[in-house]
Amino acid sequence: ELKAVIFDLDGVITDTAEYHFIAWKQLAEELGITFDRAFNEQLKGVSRMESLERILALGGQADRYTMAEKEALADKKNEHYKQLIARMTPDDLLPGILDLLRELKRENVKIGLASASKNAFTVIERLQIGEYFDTIVDAAKVKNSKPHPEIFLTAAKQLQVDPSACVGVEDAQAGVAAIQAANMFAIGVGDEEALKEADYIVQTTAELTYDVIVRAFHRE
Ligand code: BG6
Ligand code: MG
Repeated sequence: ELKAVIFDLDGVITDTAEYHFIAWKQLAEELGITFDRAFNEQLKGVSRMESLERILALGGQADRYTMAEKEALADKKNEHYKQLIARMTPDDLLPGILDLLRELKRENVKIGLASASKNAFTVIERLQIGEYFDTIVDAAKVKNSKPHPEIFLTAAKQLQVDPSACVGVEDAQAGVAAIQAANMFAIGVGDEEALKEADYIVQTTAELTYDVIVRAFHRE
């Protein structure tokens, strides 16, 4: 029986995945590195520092900067990102998400958030949806990044629900892998090719209703 749904934030609840992309792309261009959306799929769900490392490696610049310089680069990206999220409002919730949160509450399904972002609380506040979450696990609370299952397992533990009764919702390859490593049912939102490992895929959040999730979970 479905007892909890644990959501990723960026790219699932709201389109901040696009803001991360814009901010990284600008920094990369300043460093003379170009990357496309296909490469960006590999950055989704990945921590800030690891994302920078992957971009530098792509540009053949893995060994060019000291740790302090890398931190300055990551800070620069984050300042740009913070400017982009400062303008967010509840209108920036992705289609169907608010209805889904309300439906899950009505059905007594617990709701968790598992976000790799250190900006997760700010984004949730801007969207004014904090009241819906029974637990919020962000980057500050876990040691291992996705695809490690720790963040999803921590959320399930705090919700006091067995992982086998949880559904995880993700837009990232690393996130889908983390859900499956946690022994949960993985729903992917977005590109079918990028998310082919997921147990169930929807193209957009508009398709995500309680019924759809329950049916997928029971493999009907
Ligand atoms: C994840 C995003 O949710 O958070 C990644 O998918 C991002 O793109 C990561 O790099 C870390 O976010 P932040 O806000 O801590 O830099
Ligand atoms: Mg995401």
